[in-house]
Amino acid sequence: MPRGASERGISVGIHDLEVATSHFVVSLSELAEHNGTDPAKYLIGLGQREMSFPAPDEDAVTIGAEAAAELLARTGVEGITTLLFATESGIDQSKAAGLWVHRLLGLPASMRVAEVKQACYGGTAALQAAAGMVARAPQERVLVIASDVARYALDSPGEPTQGAGAVAMLVSAAPALVELDPVSGRFTAEVDDFWRPNGMLEALVDGELSVAAYLDGVESSWLDLAARGGPSVERLAAILFHQPFGKMAQKGLRRLSSVVGRDLDGAGNTAGEAINSRMGNSYAASVYAALAGLLEYGLGEEPLSTGDRIGWFSYGSGSVSEFLTGTVGPAATTRSGSGGIAAKLDARAALGVPEYRALHTARGETPEVTDRLLPRTTRGRFRLAEVRGGARRYEGV
Ligand code: CAA
Repeated sequence: MPRGASERGISVGIHDLEVATSHFVVSLSELAEHNGTDPAKYLIGLGQREMSFPAPDEDAVTIGAEAAAELLARTGVEGITTLLFATESGIDQSKAAGLWVHRLLGLPASMRVAEVKQACYGGTAALQAAAGMVARAPQERVLVIASDVARYALDSPGEPTQGAGAVAMLVSAAPALVELDPVSGRFTAEVDDFWRPNGMLEALVDGELSVAAYLDGVESSWLDLAARGGPSVERLAAILFHQPFGKMAQKGLRRLSSVVGRDLDGAGNTAGEAINSRMGNSYAASVYAALAGLLEYGLGEEPLSTGDRIGWFSYGSGSVSEFLTGTVGPAATTRSGSGGIAAKLDARAALGVPEYRALHTARGETPEVTDRLLPRTTRGRFRLAEVRGGARRYEGV
C-alpha cells in the first residue's frame, strides 16, 4: 500500500501552511474618526479592528511569495510538481501570478503553474484540484497559494472590509496538519452579489444580496454535505467560516445553528476572528487564514488535539460555496501558542488615514500599463520593482 494510503483510500490534505500579510496597517478606529462613523459600527457591527494595506511595491504576487518562501523553508521543494495560485486580485489577464512566484523562489522548471479564479472560493478550488492530483500520484506534492488584496472604493460601505493577505499550503499524501475527509458539500448559484468587470480595480457589490447569498451557501452546502454522509456538527471540534468581516462568520454560525437545530455558539470560530479582524478580508486566503489562526490559538484556552475533526465553509461570490471537513494531524498541536501570526500582524507599519487615502487614490489613478520604477517601501523580502511595456519585474532580497 503506498505511503498515506488506508482502507478509505489515499489520505490527502494540508501538510503545512503559512500566512503572510502586507507592509501597512490602517486602524479602523482612526478610519471611523476620519469619516464621522461611530467606531462601534466597525468594531462591533462588522467585527473588524484593522485592515492590512499594501505598499505601492506590493501586490498579491509579493505577499503570496512571502507566505510560500516561509513555508518552503520548512518543507523543501522536493516532490512539488505543481503550483496553483488562487486569487481574485490577479495582476494579468493572461499570465498566471504563480509564474513570478516560481521565478522569485527559484522553483524547479519541471513543474506546472496555473492561476485559479472564483472570487474568494478560489483557494478551495485550488486545494481540491491539488488533492485530486496527489490522490492520483501520492509521491507528488502541490503548492497552493491563495493571495489577495481586497480593495473597495473610498467612502463605500465595503471600505472598512478591505484587507490583504496570503496563505501558502503544501498539499500531500499522509499530511501532518489536516487530512481532508473524502466528501464535501457543494452549492453553486449564479448571482450578481459581488463582481469585478475587466479593467476595474475595485469590486462592484450588492452588499445586502452578498450577505444573503453567503448565508444561502452556508445552508445549501451543509445540506449537501449531510446528504453525502458527511459528519454531524456534534463530531466537529471547530467550524470556521470565510471571513469578509468577523460579523459575517457569526451570521454564518447562526444560520448553521438554525439548520441543524442546535445552538453552536462557541464552536471554535473565534480563533479565526482573532487573525481576520486584524488582517481584513483576504478573499481566497481568508478561510485558510482562519484555519491558521485556529491551529495557532486553538479553541479558547484549549489547543486542538490530534484526531479532532474540524469543518470549514468556503464562499466565493458569484457564487460557489463548499463545506469541507477534515481531521487534525500531529503537527497541528506543535503550532499552538507559537504567536507567529500575531507577530507578523504586530510588525506592520501603521499608516495614517490621510496617507492611506492618498495611496489608495494614486493606485486607482495609475493605469496598470504605465511605465514606472517603484521605490522600495515594503520591508517584505519580495517587491514589485518596475513596470515597463506592461511587463512586471519583481525582485527579492
Ligand atoms: N454600533 C454597533 N453596530 C452598528 C452600529 C453602531 N453604531 N451602526 C451599525 N451597526 C451594525 C449594523 O446593525 C449591522 O449589523 P447587523 O449586520 O448585525 O445588522 C452592521 O453594523 C453593518 O451595518 P449596515 O447594515 O449599515 O451595513 P453597511 O452599509 O455598513 O454595509 C456590508 C455592510 C454590506 C457588509 C458592507 O461592508 C459591504 O458591502 N462589504 C463588502 C461585501 C461583503 O463583504 N459581503 C459579505 C458577503 S460576500 C463574501 O463573503 C465574499 C467576499 O469576501 C466579498
